[in-house]
Amino acid sequence: MTENGNTPINVYEKHEWKHKTVVAGVEWKNPVGTASGTFQLAACRWFYDVSQMGAISTKGVSPVPWEGNPGPRTAESPAGMVNAVGLQNPGVDHYLVDELPKLKELGATVVTNVAGHSDDDYAQVVAKLADSPADMLEINVSCPNVSHGGMSVGTDPVALSRLIGHLRKLTSKPMIVKLSPNVTDIALIARAAAEAGADALSLINTLVGMRIDIRTGEPIISNRTGGVSGPAIFPIALGFVWRVRQALPDIPIIGIGGIDSGEKALEFLYAGANAVEVGAAALYDPTAPIRVARELDDLLDSRPELAAKLAAGETWR
Ligand SMILES: Cc1cc2nc3c(=O)[nH]c(=O)nc-3n(C[C@H](O)[C@H](O)[C@H](O)COP(=O)(O)O)c2cc1C
Repeated sequence: MTENGNTPINVYEKHEWKHKTVVAGVEWKNPVGTASGTFQLAACRWFYDVSQMGAISTKGVSPVPWEGNPGPRTAESPAGMVNAVGLQNPGVDHYLVDELPKLKELGATVVTNVAGHSDDDYAQVVAKLADSPADMLEINVSCPNVSHGGMSVGTDPVALSRLIGHLRKLTSKPMIVKLSPNVTDIALIARAAAEAGADALSLINTLVGMRIDIRTGEPIISNRTGGVSGPAIFPIALGFVWRVRQALPDIPIIGIGGIDSGEKALEFLYAGANAVEVGAAALYDPTAPIRVARELDDLLDSRPELAAKLAAGETWR
């Protein structure tokens, strides 16, 4: 029972993890994290002990509070959803005195997701996080960016290289660059990020999509288009991870996209990922991240060669 009379559900008791992973020198208790934008401490802590996750990737933080897009912001789609939340968040100053200390106090490994509408936005946030207790930074390069004509920097290797090169000088924290799948050649973009100083890559962010209300003939989401996520994108995301691993044999990779079971997480590990993050699945089953972690922990028991590689910071391929 808590101070407000609620009893936490906490369906998963504490677990002694059998299989850890190492991402860019940072040890995760297990290879499963939460994906940015689908985890909120105030809600998720009722369902599981957040320190039990491999890592918690937080909602993207910007230099000042962002209101996000007007509603409707989401629409259902087969085996998934479309969202245009618009990176609503209370800003980095609030994050530094509220969510981050709470997560660290609870014992979580924290990946702070960084958002920006210009190169300067990103730089301000990264500079403020440099001395914070965040364990890793995850730079979301899919945000529309004014320094780049409203396009996301994640679609242009030259702009991406300039941004990551600049951020690299501002922090010694392990820096993950989160890649957009809305590009022609993901290997080109991945290489640009790696050569500019990324310590790891996470992929994929959402794919551009939309739904239309046939009663009105108008888009359901006020932003018109949004990002597609959920089980529908799983094979696409897996293909992206495969391609990046083929192109860059050494960089740590976090696989994201449509993961809702230990088996799907395992496919990402066999594709060459060091770890995974669970996103949209947590929106219809809040226990999904911890359940996937438990399922994967058991699946790795019978795969000692893969488990040993992950524990040593290596990958299957
Ligand atoms: C509602 C919602 C909000 C999201 N917000 C962010 C965000 O702030 N930063 C980010 O890098 N990715 C964000 N994402 C993308 C997810 O982290 C993830 O990359 C994507 O949804 C694919 O994984 P999934 O199929 O498991 O959801 C968001 C996704 C959803 C569904």
